Amino acid sequence: MKLKNHLIKLCCAAALCLSGSALAADTVVLYFSASGNTQAVAELIARTVNAESLAITPQEPYTAADLNWHDEKSRTSIEMKGSDNKVRPAIANDLSTVKDASTVVLGFPIWWGTAPRIINTALESYDFSGKKIYIFCTSGGSGVEQSLADLKAAYPNYNFVAARRFNFGDTTDNVKSWLK
Ligand SMILES: Cc1cc2nc3c(=O)[nH]c(=O)nc-3n(C[C@H](O)[C@H](O)[C@H](O)COP(=O)(O)O)c2cc1C
Repeated sequence: MKLKNHLIKLCCAAALCLSGSALAADTVVLYFSASGNTQAVAELIARTVNAESLAITPQEPYTAADLNWHDEKSRTSIEMKGSDNKVRPAIANDLSTVKDASTVVLGFPIWWGTAPRIINTALESYDFSGKKIYIFCTSGGSGVEQSLADLKAAYPNYNFVAARRFNFGDTTDNVKSWLK
């Protein structure tokens, strides 16, 4: 019996070592990226923790004109700065594998200080209650705190456990120390 317990412990330690983190094996890295920065971080995280990565693809792709924050009539300005925060851009792809995940690492670029509205679409498309949700963002400098506060307020029954902003220089070691 002692030997069996010892073997079980050894296997668990090896699994942790291989995945580089203590996250559950059924973790999914779910992300939206309009111009590639968040995608690069999502792939780094997925590689580091040995998880599947899943992109949120907008039904209507964001063009350069859509992403122009200097234009108050651009699509993103209208989506993000509308008075009611109720715009929910449609998602083109099937994200149903998140249903089976106990942990979701959710990433996005900061738009106007917070998460893009398509993140709300994703969070309202499936039931994330009961899952651990780790938030990460990329940005031109804004922190992740406002988006975390906004998401916690919008989805009080979801379990947002941690949040981090990632930079270009971040490495697997930064991912491991965040998700340990
Ligand atoms: C519409 C729009 C609004 C943005 N607003 C902010 C902002 O409020 N603060 C910030 O630091 N960066 C802001 N950015 C910069 C993006 O967060 C940053 O470039 C991000 O890394 C882009 O990620 P992506 O390549 O995955 O789309 C904004 C970018 C866009 C397109």
